[in-house]
Amino acid sequence: MADARLIFDHRRPVGAVNRRVFGSFIEHLGRAVYDGLHEPGHPTADADGFREDVKELVRELGVSAVRYPGGNFVSGFRWEDSVGPREERPKRLDLAWHSTETNEVGLHEFAAWLDAVGSELMLAVNLGTRGTLEAIDLLEYSNLAQGSALADRRIANGRTRPFDVKMWCLGNEMDGPWQLGHRSADDYGKLAAQTAKGMRMFDPSLELVVCGSSGRGMPTFGEWERVVLNHAYDDVDYISCHAYYAEKDGDLGSFLASAIDMDSFIEQVVTTIDHVKAVKRSDHVVNISFDEWNVWDIARFENVDKIEGVDNWPVAPRLLEDAYTVSDAVVVGNLLISLLRRADRVTSASLAQLVNVIAPIMTEPGGIAWKQTTFFPFAVTSALATGQSVPTRVDCDTYETKEFGDAPLVDAVTTVDEETNSASVFAVNRSQTESVRLTIPVGEFGDIAEATAQTLSDEDPYAVNTLENPERVGLKANDSIRVENGEVVVDLPPISWTAIALTRAVGATA
Ligand code: AHR
Repeated sequence: MADARLIFDHRRPVGAVNRRVFGSFIEHLGRAVYDGLHEPGHPTADADGFREDVKELVRELGVSAVRYPGGNFVSGFRWEDSVGPREERPKRLDLAWHSTETNEVGLHEFAAWLDAVGSELMLAVNLGTRGTLEAIDLLEYSNLAQGSALADRRIANGRTRPFDVKMWCLGNEMDGPWQLGHRSADDYGKLAAQTAKGMRMFDPSLELVVCGSSGRGMPTFGEWERVVLNHAYDDVDYISCHAYYAEKDGDLGSFLASAIDMDSFIEQVVTTIDHVKAVKRSDHVVNISFDEWNVWDIARFENVDKIEGVDNWPVAPRLLEDAYTVSDAVVVGNLLISLLRRADRVTSASLAQLVNVIAPIMTEPGGIAWKQTTFFPFAVTSALATGQSVPTRVDCDTYETKEFGDAPLVDAVTTVDEETNSASVFAVNRSQTESVRLTIPVGEFGDIAEATAQTLSDEDPYAVNTLENPERVGLKANDSIRVENGEVVVDLPPISWTAIALTRAVGATA
């Protein structure tokens, strides 16, 4: 058993945890919408054809805002196709995923679904193959109460109240050569600034997200952010980051340390934002919307899933249906630790995605919906990470990785909620062989009335939940937790994610 010591400083918060960090993403891709959220004829389907069992799981997951409708999909999307009488909506080819989009579910249906699950809509506009005018049209259609042709069309289409969408993404991954309408940073920066200015002429209080890099490994990373922000800095509130991780060539050690890459990504984007801010002598603050992040085996998509053929455009094909292992869930938990660590600058994030497509929730047509391993760290972090993120230092051994050199065995973050007299510690043990005894001195925070812990781990780090065995992996109470002489002590099994919930004895504030 190795030892680790965690020190947190509740007196100097990094920043408030923004609920929007627990966002997710639904793209019209594969079976995310059709045969995912929406399956008329399913035993649990509501009057609009949405599955109640899926809604229930989405609520349990604790998802704040949901980014919609893409993703790569949005760059070929005509939003007008997705509103109005269903029988009149056109079927379209989706070039991004080589599928057919039926438009059976569109803006109205999705917004109603979000109301039912209690999540906020975050809309992406098409700046790939369309432009400023179409973006403003969608904004007017969505947010104007009444009195213009577009607002009145929404009302005629059945929605009297405006959708009142606050957060808008100015396109998707415009730096990626795979993107329909891919542009240079210069061209995209100008288009994004012009579109943002137009949208703000309608409503200056909108929160706008400009596209950053679709990965830290992109050849244009860094320079893309600088050039785009140089054009759009004062017109936007967020710049996006996207990152997907996967185990490569059996290198589990590096994969388990993926959060090191996310930490650097965030750090470098913050530095670039602040550089542009300084050059512009601006008082405006731009933060990060980490609006696509997850574990995703992209190679499997490229080599196995990819659909081709001029006459082959399936509806809702099984695409990107990764089955997540225990190790994947530990990495997802660790990525959440990274996001929370920079709560001061990462004020929005979206787990990509939500249902069936690289998702924490899976469904079978006519059958069950189940939780993937990654469901657990997300749901528990979303429930427990309230209040402020506070500086957290872990003293522990390191292990050698191919990608990152020496990586700490344990990574963790702490949130403190003064309103509820509680603190939560989220920790991973990346060791493949050794348990770690984690000691947390809590003297400064106050006497602990209650300490509980729950852990995700398994003898088999590649164990998954499947249709046949949907509850193979789950959270377990970690009964090793104890409070001894002003210290919380808990044992973290190899390759594990743990959430520790501490309640302060009332009147014991230090
Ligand atoms: O989430 C899957 C895809 O990954 C999205 O459509 C795209 O934005 C990213 O490349």
